[in-house]
Amino acid sequence: MLRSMPVRRFKRGFQLGLIKLLIGNKAAGVHLSYVGQGATADLCRRIVDIGHTDVLVVTDKALKELGLAERALAGLIDAGVNLHWYAGVDPDPTFAHVVEGSKVLRSAGCTAVVAVGGGSSMDAAKIIACTRSSDESPDKWVGLNKTPEDIVPIYAVPTTSGTGSEATMGAVIKDPAEKLKHIIVAEGLLPQAVALDPELLLGLPAPVTAATGIDALTHGIEAYICIWDRGTRKENGRLAVQGVFRWLERAVQNPGDIESRQGMAVAAYHAGIAINQVGVGNVHAIAHQLGARFGIPHGQANALVLPHVLKACLAEAETALAELAVVTQVSDAASPAARAQAFVEAVTDLIAKVGIADTDPRIQSAEWTAVAHAAMDESDGYVSPRLLSKAEMMEILERITVR
Ligand SMILES: [Fe+2]
Repeated sequence: MLRSMPVRRFKRGFQLGLIKLLIGNKAAGVHLSYVGQGATADLCRRIVDIGHTDVLVVTDKALKELGLAERALAGLIDAGVNLHWYAGVDPDPTFAHVVEGSKVLRSAGCTAVVAVGGGSSMDAAKIIACTRSSDESPDKWVGLNKTPEDIVPIYAVPTTSGTGSEATMGAVIKDPAEKLKHIIVAEGLLPQAVALDPELLLGLPAPVTAATGIDALTHGIEAYICIWDRGTRKENGRLAVQGVFRWLERAVQNPGDIESRQGMAVAAYHAGIAINQVGVGNVHAIAHQLGARFGIPHGQANALVLPHVLKACLAEAETALAELAVVTQVSDAASPAARAQAFVEAVTDLIAKVGIADTDPRIQSAEWTAVAHAAMDESDGYVSPRLLSKAEMMEILERITVR
């Protein structure tokens, strides 16, 4: 594959021009959100009112065994809705998970899918919802608008605050054989309604709270600093970044604190809305490879890469980063360059304060080149402030690898 910078720049410019021509700068789809304690009850009432009688619940084994998924959906059970379970989602769902969930969806004739869980459950649920009347292999749907039109309505109950999948029309599915994470995007994948219920987040362990929170921060920043001014990406990106700076440390230190849990749920949701407008950026382009090749959890992978990518883009993203420094109150320095620099330092500090290391022993130096190539290929489809060269990608990988 040709990866010279002029070719990459031309390819990206052409793609962005085409996308703008096709969909313009209008905001992407909107949906219903219920927020606060009792939000799941409101969501259940909505599903009952619509008239669904058989619903597929997509979740993971732990949430099913803990009874958390059932508690969240008590309103459906009380109303006599038949719940059919697919509780086999693992972190980084694969096409095999989709096929397993699809069997339950089709055999029970479900007319709605409710995802209860983190990004993995929500992403798996979205693609399972595409399988009601299609016998195509789901790996054919990778890319933009390639899914079947018949998508069962999706409802989301996030139990982590980070992925933003509850607010997006995208899903990430891993192909273990290819060591790649594939992105599937289609309008019908946007959940119809979502419940942001802080009570479901109270038991989330500190490391997961920290990593998912930095994922949300990354979404907010990547949407805010990007070069495509579409829809509400800036407002939602800013609200996400402000929310993470305000609430994340407190949620990590006090797992039972409902106020910071709700603050983080809302911040992650804003971040999801922001990336639903403009996608993600260089940080995710690298982090996806770290997840697919080395099994590093997504939020942690973003946390490793985020400070380095921001430093590399300081000049191009100076104005946006300086604005973020002001709204997060980390700097009121006179010069935009100083404010931008201070914001990057504050992000680096926050990652350290919530307990995430700046290197990872799972990264293998023998795979740096493959990671850099895959990251360049992925990043060429994003609207980051600028493309990173292979040398820059390699340098970032070197910095986050344990020697
Ligand atoms: Fe992410």
